[in-house]
Amino acid sequence: MSLKEKIESLEAEVAAAVARTAEEVEKFRVATLGRNGSVTALFEDFKQVASEEKREFGQRMNRLKQSAQARWEELKASLDQESSSNGSTADPTRPALTEQVGSLHPITIVRQRIVDVFARIGYTVSQGPEVEDDHHNFSALNFAPDHPARDMQDTFFVDLGSDIALRTHTSSVQVRVMEGSKPPIRTISPGRVYRNEAISARAHCMFHQVEGLYVDKGVSFAELKGTLDYFAKSMFGPEVTIRMRPSYFPFTEPSAEVDMSCTICMGKGCNVCKHSGWVEIMGCGMVDPAVLTNCGIDPEVYSGFAFGMGVERVAQLIYRVPDLRLYWENDVRFLRQFSDGAFRG
Ligand code: DAH
Repeated sequence: MSLKEKIESLEAEVAAAVARTAEEVEKFRVATLGRNGSVTALFEDFKQVASEEKREFGQRMNRLKQSAQARWEELKASLDQESSSNGSTADPTRPALTEQVGSLHPITIVRQRIVDVFARIGYTVSQGPEVEDDHHNFSALNFAPDHPARDMQDTFFVDLGSDIALRTHTSSVQVRVMEGSKPPIRTISPGRVYRNEAISARAHCMFHQVEGLYVDKGVSFAELKGTLDYFAKSMFGPEVTIRMRPSYFPFTEPSAEVDMSCTICMGKGCNVCKHSGWVEIMGCGMVDPAVLTNCGIDPEVYSGFAFGMGVERVAQLIYRVPDLRLYWENDVRFLRQFSDGAFRG
């Protein structure tokens, strides 16, 4: 084979070279550019080239050497790229990156528990808007026109009209459900509510409530008490008892405040229950006939009960968070401490 033919065949060989592994890349380098490689060997043959042809052959051989060099670099680079994309050079003994798994917010955990307890006895879940009108938040619920809750001091009115406000309680959803459906109605309405309160460790301008409503023929106060007793025991344990104290709400008659035996001291008396052995957990009562009428339900045929509780309040008895503001700050160091599994229900 003449030198010219050798150069031509090596040019073709270099251009077509492939390598799938680091060993193959190295083999290519040794076979072409190595001390005994085919390209290197050509320079031995060069010595026999006639002097008038030396210039032409010299240039061509240098170009071949450069392209062999370039091809080797290329093969190496494509291999590096591949190994970094398929991870084959990753260290398999390196500790795995552990996924940070989030958790539910404590208020969400407690709200879901409350919903679960009522779902078991046939309550549906209903919702209403947080920006509410006077009719649903106050009037239909029998609040007198001059009731102090309607005062700007207590309620956030919104610049959308004189009777639009952020709802002050989830009782507004009672009205929406009664207006929109026929008895029997058995529903709970969890949601966020707003009041114009100075923010402190014990009060906030927004918090959560769960409202309950049961309307049917012949619903009695005894059923109200039985339902709330079932709720307290399901939520806090079978040893818990409740008591009812007469109270007043515009939308229920009679109305009551519900206390539960203190879960912290088991009724013996502690700081949480202010040494009374009882903690207040909700308000309730028989739906006022005027409210039924306002919502298009005949009070001669139907009766019902309603109740409303604060989710933060219930959460407080479970988690004993010392400052309500922590619930809103979204500090992960606080939030990470809660998981559904840790619930002492
Ligand atoms: N809406 C009342 C509040 O925010 C709570 C309440 C009391 C709801 C008695 C009721 C009820 O349904 O019957 O303070």
